[in-house]
Amino acid sequence: MTGNHYLACINCGMRYCPEEILYTCRRCGDLLSVEYQESQIPSDLGEIWRNRYLSVWRYRELLPVREGTEIVTLGEGGTNLNRCLKLSEMFGLEEIYVKNEGENPTGSFKDRGMTVGVTKALELGMRTVACASTGNTSASLAAYAAKAGLGCLVLIPSGKVAFGKLVQAIVHGAKVLQVQGNFDAALSIIRHLCTKHRIYLLNSINPYRLEGQKTIAYEIRDQLGCAPDKVIVPVGNAGNISAIWKGFRELERLNLIEDLPQMIGIQAEGAAPIANSLRNGLSSVRPVERPETVATAIRIGSPVNWKKAVRAVNESGGLVETVSDQEILEAQRLLASHEGLFVEPASAASIAGLRKLVDMQRICHDEKIVCIATGHGLKDPDIVLRQFPKPVEVEADLESIEKVLGMSDEAIMHAAQEQLAS
Ligand code: F0G
Repeated sequence: MTGNHYLACINCGMRYCPEEILYTCRRCGDLLSVEYQESQIPSDLGEIWRNRYLSVWRYRELLPVREGTEIVTLGEGGTNLNRCLKLSEMFGLEEIYVKNEGENPTGSFKDRGMTVGVTKALELGMRTVACASTGNTSASLAAYAAKAGLGCLVLIPSGKVAFGKLVQAIVHGAKVLQVQGNFDAALSIIRHLCTKHRIYLLNSINPYRLEGQKTIAYEIRDQLGCAPDKVIVPVGNAGNISAIWKGFRELERLNLIEDLPQMIGIQAEGAAPIANSLRNGLSSVRPVERPETVATAIRIGSPVNWKKAVRAVNESGGLVETVSDQEILEAQRLLASHEGLFVEPASAASIAGLRKLVDMQRICHDEKIVCIATGHGLKDPDIVLRQFPKPVEVEADLESIEKVLGMSDEAIMHAAQEQLAS
């Protein structure tokens, strides 16, 4: 093996060279994971990292790129960990934090994965990258491919991608095809296409992408000074929850944290293959044929990373819970109106999940909780417009506006008279 890392099968342990273009184990077909040669990890990592600013590449010693490789970056990571005092008061908890991944360059956590994945594509000499997507992956991949000068192909489920995300993929020059089927169908096709032709697949089945995403865990540790008690993550294809758990495990192995957090996955009720399967005690995840939810980002019935995610949940003593579309939309409003954070519906699922777990008395009041807000609210403005009345239209003069606001002279007089009379 050359370099600081190699690929290993999570089932049979088979090892592969990092130069191989491979997404699953050639021997048993299971998922792959990136592992690092321990002898090559510096012993004073904490010290090295402290001297760099917060970002994905702060952690480059534990990212799978060769020395000297030119990195494709748009300035990803370094997102705020917002302490939410009002939410804490409302939920009766002491410490709730929201990691606002909407601050990334294309507005979602996918950028953490794409900076590594697209850098890897260049390292491997690929000229075209591709993905299937519910929207954010395609927006992110399109941007990084544009920066790297690579061709980009994306397959999206027809009519089920939020407008903002579709626009991003288009403006960055990706070839966008709307598939008459759901995300699961699109992913299956793109996997075949990438195996048959020389195109690099950048869905979360690609283990390099998850390496970028694990930096969410590293950053939380650096921002909090320790690991939290619970990390709550919206789950779709189940890559992110797996990546974050891998990050915390690595920190523990390197003695950079003492305790590990519990990983809590949240799925939408209509797209909850992992939650349903765990609830029914199944040993493997049974797909949901027709997933449906207002949170289109996580409208996924057959999550490719289910095995990694179930491991993360079981090893950490966590759980996977479901939330209804109504709970998701309420949480979105709550976060926007009380904490000033506008997140897309899939992201709000983590806050909706926290609220539900509090009601179920599954959270202790003094636990440190981190919810991952995975994408920006502006990705999907339609969903908000559909729930609120249209703003009132007024003539462009002071008097009309005062009248509508109840600030006209008559209104003020009337109020004063009422007060005197009472
Ligand atoms: N939140 C948002 C905003 C997402 O876009 C996604 C996934 C998730 C959560 C779930 O993450 O798949 O790692 O469990 N979006 C993918 C996409 C599927 O195509 O943009 P996951």
